[in-house]
Amino acid sequence: MTDMSISRYGYKDAATARRYAAGGRAMFLPGSPMMHALTLQLLDETVPEDGRVLVLGAGGGMELGVFAAHAPGWAFTGVDPSAEMLAAGREALGEVSNQIEWVEGYIPDAPDGPYDGATCLRTLHFVADNGDKLEALKAIRARLKPGGAFILVDNCNPGGTLDFERHAARFVEQGRRAGAADDMLARARASLTGKTEMVSPEREVELLTEAGFREIDLFYAALSWRGWVARA
Ligand SMILES: C[S@@+](CC[C@H](N)C(=O)[O-])C[C@H]1O[C@@H](n2cnc3c(N)ncnc32)[C@H](O)[C@@H]1O
Repeated sequence: MTDMSISRYGYKDAATARRYAAGGRAMFLPGSPMMHALTLQLLDETVPEDGRVLVLGAGGGMELGVFAAHAPGWAFTGVDPSAEMLAAGREALGEVSNQIEWVEGYIPDAPDGPYDGATCLRTLHFVADNGDKLEALKAIRARLKPGGAFILVDNCNPGGTLDFERHAARFVEQGRRAGAADDMLARARASLTGKTEMVSPEREVELLTEAGFREIDLFYAALSWRGWVARA
């Protein structure tokens, strides 16, 4: 897998990583608490009380904190290529972080598993659709037990014809209404320059299918964000 220049988005910067872990960026995901609650409901369908869950793009620890509070019996592996984001996640989670196996690496570097469930929240839109996205999805499926739930949440390019100005204005405005400070709004706007590797929702479903996932259901949609649950 090619290097995704994670530094481009500030994920290699310790101060940015700490701000992220402190919750600031959650403001830019509309309906974050509901999305996490639905993710847990869907994981519960295939993860037993003592099950194993693989969390891809785990930096910052945002979802791991929510998951661990919901299911103290689950064993988690959190994978992320940014050591700074992993460190910020560990720090933010405190004692809970001892329950987590932290792995510094890209998605295909994840341990073999097998896992009862997996998530990749707000991360796959940084992986290029040049074969890497498909490779990442195949790597996730290969680590799940047959039938295991996979939850994917991405920022998408709706309809494949994203008007960046309109999209960016709405993205920033919802952050402002959620209480984000002006400097955070400016940084969020600057990150929306067309440099991420977003694809259309239709392309995401095509890639999930090609990777061998089945029962692919949309469960979350907010502005340009989409979330699917699928089974390995
Ligand atoms: C927006 S954050 C999401 C973190 C967390 N999942 C959440 O929802 O708060 C994106 C994360 O993806 C990681 N990342 C960036 N490029 C990646 C890649 N190619 N493969 C795996 N993770 C990547 C970054 O280091 C960062 O921690």
